[in-house]
Amino acid sequence: MAKKVLANPGSLEFFSARAATNDPFVYRLGLQIFILARRVRLPYGSPFSSKPPPQSGGFFISRHPPVTAHHKADFLKARKGGRPIAALTAYDYPTARLLDDCGVDILLVGDSLGMVVLGFPDTTHVTLGQMLHHVAAVARAKPRALVVGDLPIHSYETPAQALESARQLVAAGAEAVKLEGGIRQAEKVRAITGAGIPVIGHLGMLPQRVLEEGGYRKKGRTPEQAEAIREGAEALVDAGVSSIVFESIVPETARMLSAALPVPTIGIGCGEHTCDGEIAVITDLLGSFPWFVPPFARPEADLAGITRGAVGRYVSRVQGS
Ligand code: KIV
Repeated sequence: MAKKVLANPGSLEFFSARAATNDPFVYRLGLQIFILARRVRLPYGSPFSSKPPPQSGGFFISRHPPVTAHHKADFLKARKGGRPIAALTAYDYPTARLLDDCGVDILLVGDSLGMVVLGFPDTTHVTLGQMLHHVAAVARAKPRALVVGDLPIHSYETPAQALESARQLVAAGAEAVKLEGGIRQAEKVRAITGAGIPVIGHLGMLPQRVLEEGGYRKKGRTPEQAEAIREGAEALVDAGVSSIVFESIVPETARMLSAALPVPTIGIGCGEHTCDGEIAVITDLLGSFPWFVPPFARPEADLAGITRGAVGRYVSRVQGS
């Protein structure tokens, strides 16, 4: 009779032989490997990552337990009246990583992209294709911050178009979208939030209307203007926005409306501590776009000066002058 040869414990044959008999030992080992693999940081699409790449409501795998876009948007919404929200714009991967390391709450891939990165005179030249390209770059940083993509002009003229454009931003990596305007955008906001995509509103000075309005002007100066902003904000809240950007609204009105609204307001050019948070264009904060600096900007650095100094020294070194 042939003698049964025992496989070396730890060898593949040993495991296959035990697995073939439905051995609980092999089952437990497999389970341990699976649990361990879920704990380490895995890229989307790895065999152990059960969720699809960033989509609205999809898992986000990072340095922390999985958090969905909705969790992030809801956490920020719950900050109403609490710890102020610190938001900044970002348009590329390294900036997104650096800002995220500093604990920024929201990274907005704003259509200010057109002015401070692409060299257009205003935001009315920005296309959805350009936004998708930059949203994808920021999303590749896998930030803890909520990644918000701006819907550019002409990309949300009807509710159906707004939803389709929002879906494209989400497919590129946005976790929420932002659009400009109040009452006339409410149905579009409803279409997007109804599909499960968080939306941030934008009221006051609307840069996409700069040509119609003939410049960047302060808003909410009169009781009538303040009332119009309030009506717009209420329509947006009713349609499901999770927060609203207030741009260039005079401080008294921004403060009064922020106190009245149930969602956080995030101010830019509205004075300090008038809203539930602040947003700044990153190039204004870093002083890296010296050709157009809004009057309300408070630069914390002079990257334009640092760049000119470093490049000047490089040119001298290379040219030997
Ligand atoms: O596009 C942008 O950067 C913005 C901010 C000014 C809020 O909308």
